Amino acid sequence: MIDSTRHYELKELISGGGFGQVFRAEVVGVEGFRKVVAVKLLRDEAIEAVARLRDEARLLAMIRHPSVVQVEDLVKLGERWGLVMEYIDGPPLSDLSAPMPMGISLAAAARIAHALTAIHGAVDISSGEPLGMIHRDLKPSNVLLSRRGEIKVIDFGVASAHPRFREVETHELRFGSDGFIAPERIRGEPETPGVDIFSLGVILYGLLAGSPLHALPARPEGFRRSVEEALTAIDGVSDGLRELLRSMLAFEAGDRPSAGAVAAALDVAVSQHGGANLRAWAAGAVPETLAGGVSPTLPLSGRSVGTNVWASWVLFPAIPALIFAMWLALSR
Ligand SMILES: Nc1ncnc2c1ncn2[C@@H]1O[C@H](COP(=O)(O)OP(=O)(O)O)[C@@H](O)[C@H]1O
Ligand SMILES: [Mg+2]
Repeated sequence: MIDSTRHYELKELISGGGFGQVFRAEVVGVEGFRKVVAVKLLRDEAIEAVARLRDEARLLAMIRHPSVVQVEDLVKLGERWGLVMEYIDGPPLSDLSAPMPMGISLAAAARIAHALTAIHGAVDISSGEPLGMIHRDLKPSNVLLSRRGEIKVIDFGVASAHPRFREVETHELRFGSDGFIAPERIRGEPETPGVDIFSLGVILYGLLAGSPLHALPARPEGFRRSVEEALTAIDGVSDGLRELLRSMLAFEAGDRPSAGAVAAALDVAVSQHGGANLRAWAAGAVPETLAGGVSPTLPLSGRSVGTNVWASWVLFPAIPALIFAMWLALSR
């Protein structure tokens, strides 16, 4: 059955970054049918970009969770491919103009952990086979807060899954964001769901500490020392929460808890904190942020990385060695 009775009206450009543009749009059908949606439109028709968008649509279609953006369709509008999603009427966590209080932070992180549980545990709709899905780019600009207090994980553009379920394979670091990338990813080792747990640990740290976690050293001893120093610097959190953060930020992926265990621990933390009303908090904070335009709050803003990760991890430590080698060569 073929239906060609709908069309899309692009209403407002929400974001112009990355490989495409995201619009608030309306899908218009027959008999006055209209629905507000978000459409991520590719900028160009590069084969890899199109394959990536198809992967994003296919993977998203296999998850149904209140904290994961719902995909509606994959369409071709004129010459441009587009991913149609539910429209979320709120900013990314990176743009919130008010800092999140402790209980709200814990509740938001708990929702993200529940979303990760669904993502990591997703199975193929037809065969029931595990997809082995990993988000790989979890950061505050990829988590939206709606006016009604919903938390929605978005942007599965670089998510990975078993090769049977996707077209594009990449281990490139250009896909990921500085500060939120797990150490094993930086070393180019095989990735496990633990990379998302690490990223959530960095997000939770920023929320609770009120300042971002600084880039961590590459070597395990320095890495662990920096994590300990950062953990000691947060005020007013329980030993249990500190221990949870320590485990999420473990150097070895195998030492990190599962998403389900993080979600359970955070649910307990929320109730020990006396509960948290995300809906009531968002009702004030979201309109305030939208009215004030985008003003990123520091602890949560992340920088996208390109070759600069290599510059800081590989090139900078190599500079003294290069200078020494040049000096040796010249002094012969
Ligand atoms: N479903 C949606 N509803 C509302 N806004 C969205 C939606 N999806 C994306 N956006 C907005 O567009 C931005 C970029 O989308 P994203 O999927 O992260 O693409 P990119 O690859 O450019 O990072 C988001 O930070 C958010 O502000
Ligand atoms: Mg994004």
